Amino acid sequence: ARPLAIAIAGLGTVGAGVAKLLRDNADLIAARAGRPIVVTAISARDRHKDRGVATGGMRWYDDPVALADDAGVDVVVETIGGSEGPARALVEAALTAGKPVVTANKALLAVHGAALARMGGTLAFEAAVAGGIPAIKAIREGLAANRLSRVAGILNGTCNYVLTTMRERGLQFAEVLHEAQKLGYAEADPAFDIDGVDAAHKLAILAALAFGRPVDLAAVHIEGIRGVSALDIALAEELGFRIKLLGIATRSAGGVSTRVHPCMVPKGAAIARVEGVFNAVVAEGDFCGRVMLEGRGAGAGPTASAVVADLIDIARGRLTPVWGAEALDDVPSLPMEAHVG
Ligand code: HSE
Repeated sequence: ARPLAIAIAGLGTVGAGVAKLLRDNADLIAARAGRPIVVTAISARDRHKDRGVATGGMRWYDDPVALADDAGVDVVVETIGGSEGPARALVEAALTAGKPVVTANKALLAVHGAALARMGGTLAFEAAVAGGIPAIKAIREGLAANRLSRVAGILNGTCNYVLTTMRERGLQFAEVLHEAQKLGYAEADPAFDIDGVDAAHKLAILAALAFGRPVDLAAVHIEGIRGVSALDIALAEELGFRIKLLGIATRSAGGVSTRVHPCMVPKGAAIARVEGVFNAVVAEGDFCGRVMLEGRGAGAGPTASAVVADLIDIARGRLTPVWGAEALDDVPSLPMEAHVG
């Protein structure tokens, strides 16, 4: 069959990871996709930077938005990041041009997901939440028969890495943040990680999928880990608890409540043992009960794994509407005062 020709916009940790995965596992991917998946065009800021992937033979664009108009490109992979600017312009242009888009961009989805869904077309974003964990597929497809009452989890690998390392070595967060940055886990602006915004983006996406309606980010209570000291962690440990940054979205008769904040969890709980860059996604449904998935939530390999899974679905013609099932009912976002501990 004819190869699926893709363009990658942005060759940072994720974009370069996608190119490497497509190269290293080309045979296996072609077999599972029913045809080869080939990178034909690229856009990145610096043409001459060595990213460990050969870009010779690929069409190069300085302006990522131009990829949407390349007639030789079947699918656009957006790994630029950010809810506005070139990432948003490219995704809108590609959808307008009728090209499927695969993105790892949680900020874009959390802020503009509802509007992008209204544009129609294919927008796949497994990589936007919890890196290598197939969280989107699990909630949208695997648990599709359930009425979900809760989605929650450890949704930021940088914070979990920082909290784990602070505990293990008795350090303050500023001392270990740069390690998470060096490992390619942190956002371009690490304040998004540390202040809980990145986790809130991912929670908003999970809640939209779980409850069948977009979540207003302004209604999410967000508190990050800046205020957590090495002493807090040591004291919690003594009392039998671990401190984790959790995102929690619950649905009750009154509406949907969404919050991100540090939590004390009993050391024996499964979620307390999710350490380092690992994330966890928990869902509770009326027929499935409690489900927990654990895996690496950030970094080149896990995130590329999710991007390429979406590409394989597209190559196979397995296309899912953006938010999955239609909205089941009109549940309001609860005001902040209504959040309970
Ligand atoms: N900065 C994010 C994290 C990357 O640390 O989880 C994955 O979305």
